Amino acid sequence: MVELSPSILSADFSNIGNILKNIKSEKLKMIHLDVMDGVFVPNITFGFKFIEDIKKITDYFFDVHLMVYEPIRFIEKFKNSGADLITVHLEACKNVNETLDKINSLNIKSGLAINPDTKIECIYKYLNKIDFALIMSVNPGFGGQKFIENTHDKIINLKEFIKKNNLKTKIEVDGGIKTLNVKSVIDDGAEVIVSGSDIFNNDVNKKIEEYYNIFDI
Ligand code: DX5
Ligand code: ZN
Repeated sequence: MVELSPSILSADFSNIGNILKNIKSEKLKMIHLDVMDGVFVPNITFGFKFIEDIKKITDYFFDVHLMVYEPIRFIEKFKNSGADLITVHLEACKNVNETLDKINSLNIKSGLAINPDTKIECIYKYLNKIDFALIMSVNPGFGGQKFIENTHDKIINLKEFIKKNNLKTKIEVDGGIKTLNVKSVIDDGAEVIVSGSDIFNNDVNKKIEEYYNIFDI
């Protein structure tokens, strides 16, 4: 079953509680939270307290995407703030194995993300340590960007490698995904779909329904 993980980056932060409470879908299980530090990416979003506060008003699975330099410093605090999955960037860690071990030691799900210009082969050696491989289909930092087309080959190659090696890692794709192009990334092998501006710049409930109708085809 393909899962949708709406990124709230494009939502109105001053109204985020009501926005989340007004989501009617019975199928939606997770929310994507983009944490940006202004160092690893040229943008700054939110931190521990924001996540803690929205965790109090929803019971969604929190898919926390850390676009943060040397994230090992903050893993425990994000877990305590309510993260159910913490995804770090391969390009942001001094020691990837140590960082992933830290996440896994806290009994939450772990993810490793790679940027568009990082070769898919770079993630292969970590797959047995992560629950999710996050393939960025835009350069991280902002919502509303255009899907980078060569991401298709990365998803296909990763899916093939996972199958060939009998691994359980799930493929998550993040950036520039709309109802118009989501079927193509699912056909490539994506199992978790991050979508931000396509959902929160439109009728949220209608859009979420549209995604699940496409997943069910
Ligand atoms: C970008 C973030 C994405 C982004 C997705 O750095 O990691 O999650 O919010 O937003 P859209 O779907 O608008 O590209
Ligand atoms: Zn993200």
